[in-house]
Amino acid sequence: MLAVTLLAACQLQPKEEPLEKMIARGLEASTRQALSMAEELEQQEGRLPKTIKDGKLETSNCYWWCSGFFPGELWYLYENNPTPELKKYAELFTARLEKVQYVTNNHDVGFMLNCSYGNGYRITQNPAYKEVLTTGASSLSTRFNPLIQAIRSWDNTNGGKWQYPVIIDNMMNLELLTWASKATGDNRFRDIAVTHANTTMKNHFRDDYSSYHVVSYDTITGQAHVKMTHQGYSDESAWARGQAWGLYGYTMMARETGKPEYLAQARHIADFLIHHPNMPADKIPYWDFNAPDIPNTPRDASAGAIMASALLELSQLDKGEKAEEYRNFAIRQLRSLSSPEYLAQQGTNCNFALMHSTGHLPGNSEVDVPLSYADYYYVEALMRLKRLNDK
Ligand code: GLY
Repeated sequence: MLAVTLLAACQLQPKEEPLEKMIARGLEASTRQALSMAEELEQQEGRLPKTIKDGKLETSNCYWWCSGFFPGELWYLYENNPTPELKKYAELFTARLEKVQYVTNNHDVGFMLNCSYGNGYRITQNPAYKEVLTTGASSLSTRFNPLIQAIRSWDNTNGGKWQYPVIIDNMMNLELLTWASKATGDNRFRDIAVTHANTTMKNHFRDDYSSYHVVSYDTITGQAHVKMTHQGYSDESAWARGQAWGLYGYTMMARETGKPEYLAQARHIADFLIHHPNMPADKIPYWDFNAPDIPNTPRDASAGAIMASALLELSQLDKGEKAEEYRNFAIRQLRSLSSPEYLAQQGTNCNFALMHSTGHLPGNSEVDVPLSYADYYYVEALMRLKRLNDK
């Protein structure tokens, strides 16, 4: 009787989809959506996808901080499946960012160029891409202040509250600089990246390894004078995407420099996130870990995708007993993102792959919508998992 009951229970349990199948399905779905998006925008000169607003696709020009994610996603999809069509579109949308190399009025040039031209150069070795990336790295370096020992994120002073704002997101821009040092032999770029990462490690983190969103530095003393949020729930809360940027940033810097202190920082951030009591069962964070209305508050699928991608890399850098935990957690996140709960049906969601991200809830902007960077880091994470799985 017991044997019959157990057998019946086993048959009722839905079998988990094999990992290879889940990865292939996620990449295929992303490819179909990205190709439809590319066809729609091909004739819209200079436009790049951003999100959905009022039920319609919202696009930007090349100067919006997210402009590089769609071309970067196309490069990953081309790497996965090298068809002439994907290459044509990856090149077309990458070229729309050419002027970004001269941007010196904000720190996002790293995000924009590294994802688009950076992936393009990694895959094609096109020398023209290298030129753009090197110029972009020089432009970004102009924002480094040796007194403060950090790159300035924004010029905006928030009505005089900030003198020299640096946001945790800025860690993501450092990869353009470490790349530029290797490509040109000029160590200045790497030195700026390392100095910025050290300053951020000192001032952005709390004792539990959660991070502040914005730290502003006094331009006379060079000391941090304000610590607060901009996109999170409160100054002392853990804004989900900011935590994910920190995790990704220190993991990337550990890979780029081999410095054990960056690896240790990434492990601490990972532990804070993985074991957070407000991490939902499907492992896709609410938009802020301290949002007051949990569980009735929007998720941020982008934070889940960034985290998954970072954890997969961390699982390779960390040779300790935690590596498996990082990898398994990332897989659970990717299974959730690849489920109908987050992955859009073909031809819906204005051709974005993922649903349910949150850009700036306190600003009532981009709440529970698709975002181009959620798709980018989802595809990057799937590609990383595919490589690990094939090993
Ligand atoms: N870097 C801006 C954001 O994460 O929303």
